[in-house]
Amino acid sequence: MSTQPASWGKRVLCTGRLYCDIVMSGLPCVPAPGQEVYANGLVLAAGGGAYITAAYLAALGRAAGLAAVLPAEPFAGAIATELGNAGLDLGACSLAAPGVDPQITVAMILGGDRAFVTRRAGPAFPDTLGAAIDSGAWDHLHIGELASLVESPQVIARAKAAGMTISLDCSWDAEVLARDGLAAIMQGIDVFFPNRAEADMLAGYEHLAPLVVVKEGAAGARAFSAKGSIHRPAYITEVVDTVGAGDAFNAGFLDRWLFGAGLADCLDAGAYTASAAVARHGGARGLGRLARHKPAAR
Ligand SMILES: Nc1ncnc2c1ncn2[C@@H]1O[C@H](COP(=O)(O)OP(=O)(O)OP(=O)(O)O)[C@@H](O)[C@H]1O
Ligand SMILES: [Mg+2]
Repeated sequence: MSTQPASWGKRVLCTGRLYCDIVMSGLPCVPAPGQEVYANGLVLAAGGGAYITAAYLAALGRAAGLAAVLPAEPFAGAIATELGNAGLDLGACSLAAPGVDPQITVAMILGGDRAFVTRRAGPAFPDTLGAAIDSGAWDHLHIGELASLVESPQVIARAKAAGMTISLDCSWDAEVLARDGLAAIMQGIDVFFPNRAEADMLAGYEHLAPLVVVKEGAAGARAFSAKGSIHRPAYITEVVDTVGAGDAFNAGFLDRWLFGAGLADCLDAGAYTASAAVARHGGARGLGRLARHKPAAR
């Protein structure tokens, strides 16, 4: 018989856009129009907030699944091994519809800086998402991007009807952040995770959910709830690459939150998991197993 509290067993389904990231590194400069520059490294990796948060949850030992449309071939094949090794339930993933462009991000890495070009294609959520929610197999739904929720806001009512709690990362999308009516669309979200720049674009962001967690990069993170706000620092670590830090933070935070921990512990757990992300290259490729944060005695 398991000696773990039942809440360790809460299962998380992550949903949102899944990309094949084409990551070119070692560029001498950003190419100007009409110019060609040469990369000295190339990696194909799975990307998108839903996948990265799911992979970090699984690495922490929590049961996690992904509901996403696979990028059209040949790019689904390019990330199949990575997805298969991430320890995720992929039963709610579906193939891209015929004729849809592959969903790809081209990332150009120049020293500490990076530039991205992304092709979003097809719907953000797979057709299989509704059945996965209704199945009763999942306790919590994490949505990787606000833009995806804006596309299909009815997902909240469906998840609530299934008794799930819901979290939402924001992710930068200037057009979506500037639109009216976001508070109504987000009604029913339990935890909202913008970063500082995203929060600053949203009037009254502290009140967009009962719990709003603003990620502030090296300055840590701040949680706003009915009890006020609480700030916790980041973990000091050698920064190799901050890609995926915010999504890894979400995983560490949610893992503790689903256990019913206090907000300071949840923030520390988020920062701890994010510190593992900033200490490695890329998103979640080859992540392996991660230790859970041990809460400080208070
Ligand atoms: N330079 C850094 N040094 C230490 N920790 C960092 C650094 N950057 C990010 N982190 C950690 O990662 C967490 C989330 O990072 P950040 O605030 O950059 O989120 P984000 O902008 O959503 O990230 P992403 O680029 O993945 O979307 C921070 O709260 C912090 O714990
Ligand atoms: Mg982010």
